[in-house]
Order: sequence, then structure tokens, then C-alpha cells
Amino acid sequence: MRKVVRLSILGAGTVGGGVLTLLRENADLLNAQTGKRFTVRHVLVRDLSKPRAVAIEPKRLTTDPQRAVCDPTVDIVLELMGGLEPARSLIRDALQAGKHVITANKLVMAVSGDELIRLAQQRGVRLLYEASVAGSLPILNALQGALAGNRISRVVGIVNSTTNFILREMERAVEAGEPAETAYAAALSKAQELGYAEADPSSDVEGYDAQYKTAILARLAFLQYVPLESVYREGITHLSGRDLIWAKRLNMGLKLLSISERLPDGRLCARVHPTLIPRECPLYVVRGAFSGVWLQGNGFQEMSFHGFGAGARATASAVVGDLIEIARHPKPPKYEDPSLRPGETAPIETLCMRYYLRLVAPDETVLRALREELILLGAEFHPSETTEQGLEQVALTPPLNEGAFQTTFARLRTQKHGTVQVIRIL
Ligand SMILES: NC(=O)c1ccc[n+]([C@@H]2O[C@H](COP(=O)([O-])OP(=O)(O)OC[C@H]3O[C@@H](n4cnc5c(N)ncnc54)[C@H](OP(=O)(O)O)[C@@H]3O)[C@@H](O)[C@H]2O)c1
Repeated sequence: MRKVVRLSILGAGTVGGGVLTLLRENADLLNAQTGKRFTVRHVLVRDLSKPRAVAIEPKRLTTDPQRAVCDPTVDIVLELMGGLEPARSLIRDALQAGKHVITANKLVMAVSGDELIRLAQQRGVRLLYEASVAGSLPILNALQGALAGNRISRVVGIVNSTTNFILREMERAVEAGEPAETAYAAALSKAQELGYAEADPSSDVEGYDAQYKTAILARLAFLQYVPLESVYREGITHLSGRDLIWAKRLNMGLKLLSISERLPDGRLCARVHPTLIPRECPLYVVRGAFSGVWLQGNGFQEMSFHGFGAGARATASAVVGDLIEIARHPKPPKYEDPSLRPGETAPIETLCMRYYLRLVAPDETVLRALREELILLGAEFHPSETTEQGLEQVALTPPLNEGAFQTTFARLRTQKHGTVQVIRIL
């Protein structure tokens, strides 16, 4: 690679702006780390007249993707625009043109990572994507580098910091005596005001963002290709402030978790859903707009990562780390990426778990009817209490098969007048 490495940056928003800032602030450090200088040739945007948080020479700004991607003098393309298209096609074009690519795009890597990784290998260039999962946490590098000699048995993560912020806000609100039933809506609008959540928050709150990241994490941890549709997904929109009150009473935390694990039969099960975790779990302390990942492996035993999972500088830290890696090692390995091997996955129905159920009924007769099914499953009940929504009772089940439990749950939901909230326990 040349002494002066030329970059094209696709996108100058939050992450693109953060990368431009770090490239400037740390130019001497990058030179010391690689023996190279980095210079930005093109910055692709949609709107040339938009005010930018970071100063960009006007002649570097372009709205022409082909100019940014196919310029023969460019060595590395950084895709920091987001969305599936045109980002995916531009990554493909850059790889075809023999450029190294760095991307922060979990959607592209979860949907088309296999095709793009193979293309990079064929073209003899590198495709790195550390920033696509958990912002600044170097988890993908760790799995492919320092921890690669371990058989990983489990990866549990808080990989979506927007939902983690919302859950923390809900907890704070109910602790302050604010209404539990409106806690979710209030926390979401606060997250939107502060710029943590988009105007359309569905990718975060419905669990899609965490699902994309789980597919990438599980592929690298368990060295098998993980189709996105094999990752079970459930978001946080149905959670109430009452669930956070109960989490505290039960000495647990409530988090949207990404969990992937190797089952005893060799299959891989990957899922995203709200989960109650005990205080002893290392992820209990991961609060607000932070991310965390906790791993188990047969050599290191267990390890956790905790830090900023999003934001301009934190995400730029991961992108610039990839840049340094490419400057040092521009040749891809000669063997096929082991994370693309085919492997069997298992649906969530295969698992055995404990469940928290919060039953709400208008009167004791309806509550009893809801309770009866759960008594048969060996559930333990906390005393019922009267809330604004009606009579409420929480039950905790012993470990049950998810498939069988879902049948019971479906039956409970058909009970007239009562409602049932279910949350899985780690
Ligand atoms: N934000 C985070 O904290 C974070 C963390 C980890 C990973 N990521 C990932 O990083 C990527 C970028 O996120 P972001 O938050 O930086 O997004 P953003 O603030 O919305 O910025 C997107 C940038 O891309 C440009 N762009 C988008 N579509 C374009 C198109 N069709 N043609 C030309 N330019 C286009 C936009 O141009 P204009 O400015 O002219 O509109 C903008 O500069 C996404 O894949 C995201 O998932 C973000």
C-alpha cells in the first residue's frame, strides 16, 4: 500500500463526521501506528448545501457515487451512509474496482455479508465492519483475533443502545413515581428529543437493529453462516413501567438482549428479546446509552466488554481501527472465511427457560382463571395487588420448554378480560 493512503468516505453524517474528526485530530498517531498518511479524496453526501458538524473542503464533497467509489486513485472506501441500497451496491462496486472497504452498516452485513465477504476475497482486498456491531466495542476483532482459539459457547449482548436508554428512562420514571403505564411512550419521546432514537424508531424498538447485529455476532462467534431469518426477534414496545418495578423487586434488570448459543445437539440458536437478568450478570451494570457483550468460551472462560455502543466518536473509533488494520495488513487471508460455513440453526421453541408472567385482571374470578393454567406448570406466585389497571399478580415459572409454553401462553391470551405479559428470564 502507498505511503499516502487515499480515502473515499460515503456519508458525512454522525459517523462520517466522527471519522473525519478523528482522522484530523489523530493524524500524527495514525502515521506513527502505520507509517502512512491518510488523505480524504471524496466525501459523498445527498445534499451539498447542508451545514456539516465538521468542516469539509467544498471540492471534496460530491453527490456522484461513481466518482467517489471508482476513482482509480482511491485505495479505501468507507461506507458510512447506512440503509440497504444504494449502500450495498456501492460496496460491491468498490470491491469490484479493487478497493478495500470499511463499513458500519449492520443491515448490509447481516443481509448480504456472505456475498460481499466472498467478493472481497476473490478481488484480493479487505472488507472490515467492526463498527457495525456495538459501536466502539472491539468485539468482532476480538472474536477473529485474540479469542479465535476458543470454542465459544455463548454470546450475550446489549447491542442496541437506544432501547437500553429507553429501558433506563422507564426505570428512572417509575422510581420517581411517574405513571407506569405511560413510561414507555414518555421514554421513547425523550430518546427522540435527545437524538438517541429516530423519528421512525421501529428498527430499534421492534428489535430489528439488534437482530442484524446478532446475525453478525453469532456468525463470527460460532463460525457458521447465520441467515437473518433464523434469528428470533421481539422488541420492547409491549413493556410497561410495571415490569421495571417488578424487575427491581425481583432483584433483576430488564434488558433487550441478543443471545446466541451452541446447543448440546450442535445446533446454533440466536435470538433477541426482552430478558430479565440477575444482578450478578455482568450486563446488569450496562445502563443508558451503553452497550455490553458477555462471552463464554472454553479457554478464557468468560469475558465482558462494556462501552459506548453508538455516537460519532465512539463509532469512528472502530472505523479508524479498521483503517489502521488495512494499512498494516492489506492482503486478505488466503483461506475462506470460516464464518461462512453452513451450519444448522435451532428455533427458539427448542429452548428451555424460566418465565416471568404479569397477570392483570378486572377481578379475582378472571385472575383465578389465568392462574389455574400456571399452577399446572409449577409457577410460583407473588401476592396479588391492586393497580390502576386492575388486579395484578406476578408469577415465575420453573424452566419450561419454550414450544410447549407458547401453546399455554396462546391459550392464556384468549382469556376474556385479562391480560398477560411474558418476559423470559436469563
Ligand atoms: N449513528 C451511530 O451512532 C451509529 C453507530 C454504529 C453504526 N452506525 C451505522 O453507521 C452508518 C451511518 O450512520 P449515521 O448515524 O452516520 O447516519 P446519518 O447521520 O444519517 O448520515 C448518513 C450520511 O450518508 C449520506 N447519505 C445517505 N444516503 C445517501 C445517498 N443515497 N447518497 C449520498 N449520500 C447519502 C447523508 O448525506 P446528507 O448528509 O447529505 O443527508 C449523510 O451524510 C449506518 O449504517 C448506521 O447503522 C451508526
